[in-house]
Amino acid sequence: MENLLTLFLLLLLFALFPLLQALQWRTQQTNLNNFEGSSDFVNLEYHMGPVLSSPINLYIIWYGHWNPNLQDTIKDFIFSLSPPSPSSPRPSVADWWRTIELYADQTGSNITGTIRLSGEFHDSSYSQGNYLSRLAIQHVIKNSITSQNQTPLPLNPYTGLYLVLTSSDVQVQDFCRAVCGFHYFTFPSVVGATVPYAWVGHSGKQCPGVCAYPFARPEGSEAPPGSGIMGIMGAPNGDVGVDGMVSVIAHELAETSSNPLVNAWYAGDDPTAPTEIADLCMGLYGSGGGGGYVGNVYRDYWGNGYNLNGVNGRKFLVQWVWNPVQRRCFGPNALD
Ligand SMILES: *[C@@H]1O[C@H](CO)[C@@H](O)[C@H](O)[C@H]1NC(C)=O
Repeated sequence: MENLLTLFLLLLLFALFPLLQALQWRTQQTNLNNFEGSSDFVNLEYHMGPVLSSPINLYIIWYGHWNPNLQDTIKDFIFSLSPPSPSSPRPSVADWWRTIELYADQTGSNITGTIRLSGEFHDSSYSQGNYLSRLAIQHVIKNSITSQNQTPLPLNPYTGLYLVLTSSDVQVQDFCRAVCGFHYFTFPSVVGATVPYAWVGHSGKQCPGVCAYPFARPEGSEAPPGSGIMGIMGAPNGDVGVDGMVSVIAHELAETSSNPLVNAWYAGDDPTAPTEIADLCMGLYGSGGGGGYVGNVYRDYWGNGYNLNGVNGRKFLVQWVWNPVQRRCFGPNALD
């Protein structure tokens, strides 16, 4: 029996290794894991900087060629974060955001519960080309606030958050190798002010197995037969890349809000590679999850996986985040 168990664990490790490597789970370095109940090892600390406590004005920059149906899915997710009235069945996307609101800064201000989609810009001419370095993302933002060809976005240094979303044909530095999205703040020398921003890429053609997990099989891995681990799940809004993006967007919004200037909430000693509130819970979407198993989630009529309800009858699968009060990864679909 013991030998069989060892064999199984080895198989499991082999299956997981490429995924772990691809996602660069930094939790490994500090000897943490992202399994439920791993709070003993998590050393999330507050570093005295601000959180986003004013209602957030979100500006989306659609970079590249975007299908309006896919844009609608993403916009419905944004609208679901703070719907005008509690319109979605529980557990809802707004319920999920309430865990983010548990974070406060040294002035005692909590992260806001209000996120408005306040503007959109369509960079369909690929203003900075088909390959974007990390710095080029700031030039994408600069272009969106200075454009003469369409109504530019406002430069809003007080309550603005800029979200750059690249289409499936756009390559971005470190995309698919180290990251599926990232957040940072702009430099006054490039954009004219310091404003928080995030970028998320559509991984559909480039690396769905890395950035749209669990809707695509991790590259190079094979599930142990019949184990139920790493099984592929149907995408609730019908597009593997966009359904994967929704969770990455949620991840980046949570981290931008709790660590907008990279001096507020993170774990680890290295501010250039902080482990933030969503990094701690990557790959975890429901109770019992961890080690490649997404956890207890719901299935829609067609068997697609989801854990949150949104506006317009939408369903989304969104990773959990670290709950600072319960000291564990948490989402509103938790069974306990
Ligand atoms: C605000 O943050 C504090 C400290 O983390 C927390 O105890 C409180 O529940 C939060 N308030 C809301 C409304 O989330």
